[in-house]
Amino acid sequence: MMQVYWDKRFESKEMVWGEEPSQTVYHAMDVFASNDVQTLLVPGSGYGRNTKLLSSHFSVTGLEFSKLAIEMSKDWDAKTQVIECSILEPINLETQWDAIYCYNVLHLFLMEDRMKLIRNSMKQLRDQGIMYFTCFSDQDQRNGRGSRLEDNTYEYKEGKAAHFFTEQDLIQHFAGMRVIEMGLLDEEIPYSETETEKYSLRYIIVQMV
Ligand SMILES: C[S@@+](CC[C@H](N)C(=O)[O-])C[C@H]1O[C@@H](n2cnc3c(N)ncnc32)[C@H](O)[C@@H]1O
Repeated sequence: MMQVYWDKRFESKEMVWGEEPSQTVYHAMDVFASNDVQTLLVPGSGYGRNTKLLSSHFSVTGLEFSKLAIEMSKDWDAKTQVIECSILEPINLETQWDAIYCYNVLHLFLMEDRMKLIRNSMKQLRDQGIMYFTCFSDQDQRNGRGSRLEDNTYEYKEGKAAHFFTEQDLIQHFAGMRVIEMGLLDEEIPYSETETEKYSLRYIIVQMV
């Protein structure tokens, strides 16, 4: 069902969140570079808005289930190799990556699936590897809108749910990993050619111990 939603979202073949990478990409690149990262896995890579810059510095593999997004990403960011799969299923690859960057995907799922995404990511990460995740924060204006599905999780738009993370909640999701850094940030993301939307996000950087 969610695959249908995402294919629809990419139907126009336009870059729905623009061409510019998130400010967290620049931050993640500094952290990755100072931790000798060479290979990078990006779950939910979309049409490559954030992988394009990353793939000019690292060897990047994206994971994505929308065929339309994958087609667009081949044109926009030919250096990233995208595997068509669900990030909620184990990828069954022997490869272990040096780092994982995952932008605004974790909050899309209910608890059970959020933990699946984190467990699958941990499986593909080498010892001492680094993960950089971003998600909606509890301070976002959408928090509390629409019907409540689970704790801090709302169907804030028809057919679209999100979990809104407090700091403690985010730490608990990554229990067992060493937290290097976390924080709040505001981002303005385009949603049409002329309009943008403001989001309050959290990021967390953790290391496999
Ligand atoms: C909010 S978008 C973020 C895209 C990208 N990280 C970016 O910032 O441009 C979420 C992305 O995750 C993908 N996605 C959602 N659920 C997925 C799943 N179960 N398996 C693979 N990809 C998924 C969607 O198709 C979409 O491209």
